[in-house]
This record gives sequence, C-alpha cells and structure tokens, in this order.
Amino acid sequence: MIKIAPSILSADFSKLGEDIKEVELAGADYIHVDVMDGHFVPNITIGPLVVEAIRPITTLPLDVHLMIENPDTYIPHFAKAGADIISVHVEACRHLHRTIHLIKDQGVKAGVVLNPATPVEVIETIIEDIDLVLLMTVNPGFGGQRFIDSVLTKIEKVSALVRSRGLSVEIEVDGGVNKVTAKKCIEAGANVLVAGSAIYNEVDRSLAIKNIRG
Ligand code: DX5
Ligand code: ZN
Repeated sequence: MIKIAPSILSADFSKLGEDIKEVELAGADYIHVDVMDGHFVPNITIGPLVVEAIRPITTLPLDVHLMIENPDTYIPHFAKAGADIISVHVEACRHLHRTIHLIKDQGVKAGVVLNPATPVEVIETIIEDIDLVLLMTVNPGFGGQRFIDSVLTKIEKVSALVRSRGLSVEIEVDGGVNKVTAKKCIEAGANVLVAGSAIYNEVDRSLAIKNIRG
C-alpha cells in the first residue's frame, strides 16, 4: 500500500491547522514535518512548540524529519510534543545506534535519512533496528527543488535489502516528488511518498494526492 505524506513546509503557516485538516480529509496518510536548524541545512523552520500545537488538529501520524545537528538533545522534546515517527540524518549522527535507540525509548518509531550523495551501505548495520528509511531525492533545506534521478538506484538497493532480510521497514522518499517522479519511486520500491509543493501548490489537494498515489 502506498502512503502519501504531505510536507507542511509548503503549507500556508498563517492557517497551518486548516491546511493540515484539508490534506487529512483529502486522503493523506502521514503529516510530514520538516525541522531545520540553520546549521545542518541552510534554512530554519519549526520546533517542538509547533508539533505540540498541531498534534490535536489531526489523528494522522506526525512524521517528523529532523534536519538538525545534535538530534539527541531535541528528540525527547519532539517525542513529548506528539511525534509518531522521528527520522534523523545519518550525516548528523555521530553515534547512530545510540540515537535510534533514544528515539525508540520514547515509544516513537525511528527512521534513518540519507542525503542524495550518501551510499545505502551505511544502513546495513542498523536496518534491523529501525522502522523507516528515508531517502532524500533532493538536497535537504527547501521545498520545490528538482528530483535527483540517481537516487532511484538507491531505492532499489534499499528495497532489495529490506526484502532479503524479511523486514517490514518502510521506504520513504522526499523531495521533488510529483505524479511523474512518484511513479518512478514506486516502481523502484518506495512505499511512502513525501510531497510538499506538488500538493500544497495545487488547488485540488484530493486530486493531487490521488495523482501522486498513482
Ligand atoms: C526538503 C524537505 C522536504 C520538502 C519537500 O528539505 O525535507 O520534505 O518539503 O518539498 P517538495 O515536495 O516541494 O520537494
Ligand atoms: Zn522532509
């Protein structure tokens, strides 16, 4: 089953609650929350306060994508604020195993994120401990960027790894996902598709989600 995770980065922050409710009613499966610190990525977005504020707005899982340095410091705050899934960048974790277990100790699902240039081999030793692998299909930091096609091979590799180990790890893609690139990702083995501009820049969000789901 293909899941769609609208990224609120492209929502209208002056009416964030309404924009979340709207995609929930339009058939979204997760709400993707992009957390940026101005250090790991060249942009600053939101913190635990906003996660806490949107928690009562939706019953959908909050899929929190941390693009921050020192994630261990902030993971308990995001968990307490109501995150259901917390994903950390392998490039930002000095002790990935410790960080993953810190997430799980909070009773939250754990994901590992790989930038486009990071090889999939880095997850071979941690994949049995996680719930989700998030493959960036753009360089993180901004919405509305162009999909990087070379990541498709990485999706195939992760998909083969998950199957060969008999795991139920979700494979999520993030960045430049639209109805055309979504099809390629699904064919390569992805099952959770994040989309910001391809949903929030459309007037008919229901149709946008339907088109991405394929
Ligand atoms: C990028 C973020 C994405 C972003 C995707 O750093 O992680 O979640 O919102 O936006 P689109 O779908 O517009 O590329
Ligand atoms: Zn994201």
